[in-house]
Amino acid sequence: MKRDVIIAVDFKNKETALNFLDNFKNEKPFVKIGMELFYAEGPSIVKIIKERGHKIFLDLKLHDIPNTVKGGMRSLSHLGVDILNVHASGTIEMMKAALEGSVREDGTRPIVIAVTQLTSTSEERMKEELLINSSINDTIVHYAKNVKKAGLDGVVCSPLEAGMIKNAVGMDFITVTPGVRFDDGEKGDQVRVTTPKKAKEIGTDFIVVGRPITQAKDPVEAYYRCVKEFCE
Ligand code: C5P
Repeated sequence: MKRDVIIAVDFKNKETALNFLDNFKNEKPFVKIGMELFYAEGPSIVKIIKERGHKIFLDLKLHDIPNTVKGGMRSLSHLGVDILNVHASGTIEMMKAALEGSVREDGTRPIVIAVTQLTSTSEERMKEELLINSSINDTIVHYAKNVKKAGLDGVVCSPLEAGMIKNAVGMDFITVTPGVRFDDGEKGDQVRVTTPKKAKEIGTDFIVVGRPITQAKDPVEAYYRCVKEFCE
């Protein structure tokens, strides 16, 4: 797996998203489209960005009964995206259905990954509200093993969890990690963060970087700084 930087294109509509992508003249970065942009603009935004030559991680985190997730994944996979994701808490059966649905007529499919526990869920809330009594790390590793059993390719996780997950599940199990900040940058609302350089040392496969690039004075320079620290 070749390491890559994925830019989280968290904009509220097509115009602002495309204006941002217009900054990139020579390079077509891998981009992540999330709920805000997708729900505002629909599948056409995926097609437009894909036609411009970008690879796409469509981050919609599906979670429903297996048959519904299978159908949803079929529709999304046909948009020609490169990465799709689901919630691991939907069960192994649901994840298997997701994988089946993602296979296109020509036999190809996107990389399919799962969210274990959202990084916004604290151990305390998990115990009190979800009645999960194991530690958060044990829960994440257990869910990651379920993801592997279902045949999926990997997980979304905090960069600080990527090493633990690879050790438990396998080095070829893909980890995609948000929560990346430059040494000298703003943290924003992210708590457990790491730099692109450190993420490379930990051995994660993809970093997802939003505001450190999208809000930078020079987004292209910030993107190349990530690429230099993480990929080279
Ligand atoms: O702007 P920032 O770099 O914090 O953006 C990170 C991106 O990754 C956002 O799109 C956010 O929704 C997403 N994400 C995250 N933590 C997760 C899963 C997704 O920050 N656990």
